[in-house]
Amino acid sequence: MPRGTLEDRAATLALNGGAPVSETPVSVISVALDEADINAAVEVLRSGMLAQGKRVAAFEERFAAMTGARHAIACANGTCALQLAYEPLFEPGDEVLVPAWGYVATASMIVARGGVPVFCEACPVTYNINPADAARRVTNRTTAIAATHLYGNPVDVSAIEGLAVEHGLHVIYDAAQAHLATYNGSGLGAYGDAVTYSFYPTKNMTTGEGGMVTTNDDELAKKIRMLRSHGESQKYVHDIVGYNFRMTDVEGAIGDSQLRRLPGLTERRRDNARSLDAMIAGIDGLHAPAVTEGGVHAYHLYAVRMDQDALTCTRDELCAALKAEGIMTAIHYPRPLTRQPLFASYKTDLPISDRLAETLFCIPIHPNLSEKDVQSIGEALKKVADAYRA
Ligand SMILES: Cc1ncc(COP(=O)(O)O)c(C=O)c1O
Repeated sequence: MPRGTLEDRAATLALNGGAPVSETPVSVISVALDEADINAAVEVLRSGMLAQGKRVAAFEERFAAMTGARHAIACANGTCALQLAYEPLFEPGDEVLVPAWGYVATASMIVARGGVPVFCEACPVTYNINPADAARRVTNRTTAIAATHLYGNPVDVSAIEGLAVEHGLHVIYDAAQAHLATYNGSGLGAYGDAVTYSFYPTKNMTTGEGGMVTTNDDELAKKIRMLRSHGESQKYVHDIVGYNFRMTDVEGAIGDSQLRRLPGLTERRRDNARSLDAMIAGIDGLHAPAVTEGGVHAYHLYAVRMDQDALTCTRDELCAALKAEGIMTAIHYPRPLTRQPLFASYKTDLPISDRLAETLFCIPIHPNLSEKDVQSIGEALKKVADAYRA
């Protein structure tokens, strides 16, 4: 393989193999509202009743039932959902265990609450928080764990709950990427003090912008509902300081409509993952994501790990070569949170998270992939890995 710019090398690779594997680019993202979603939104728009009302209530009820939770509280986005869950569950100054490998909001909202994020190492094959590493970081100031079901893969809930019981910690799960994932046969809403979700357009389901908190604790649900809307216990009676983190009925109607289709869409993601797992198992130098024992993955993202000893290229060179073959990739994430300027003062050396930032790349997994697309992804991965084999 000649050296040169990324594009030169990628183009050469495509040329060496003749035509790119896929003539039409296979995209990582597919955002789709169907006619039913659009009609549901239009109906609310025509009604003129746009603010949070019965459509949000219907969405909450269906969401709670589908995630195995007693209560679901809809809100403006997944970041607000974290704020609503965090505020009642830990105090300013408390230490909160959080994965270094993940999305910024899980940790930054700890800081927004006045808490201290204590970054924990990732498991190298599931990419989720490593509960044994988290256990080593518990101090007498630790009061909570914020664990993310990253990419849709459930965390090791048994280990996290064990740690929480041992040290008397609250548990908040960030399931922004994990709608309809399950652990030990139950929806993720069955576990922890609270679980948060996002409905951003690229997620497994969307409301445009939107979020949800689920909980099985009646008192906590009541508090979160109050925090969502100016601390109001009844109309114009304000018991505590709260916010306006409400969801509109337009978003609620879209969410309720999307939710009806979500089981089918999630199964399509799982079918795609089964095919990709099988193809990647036959490619030296690439590893499929490992599913947590007891978990059923929701495959928001399918993150492949490259073995730096088995391939001669960097991850970015590999992705450029895949692009030349018509297969788009995405990097989630280019750096661990411990390398974000925002968290410079919480510096911790976490080599596994650093390594994930160099070796992971996400390939298309969405439900609108055709069988041919899935085959092309496998073929392109093999072609590129073979070309770069050490
Ligand atoms: C793991 C995780 N947590 C929280 C969020 C924040 O959600 P939102 O973008 O809806 O505020 C996201 C969204 O990207 C996420 O992926």
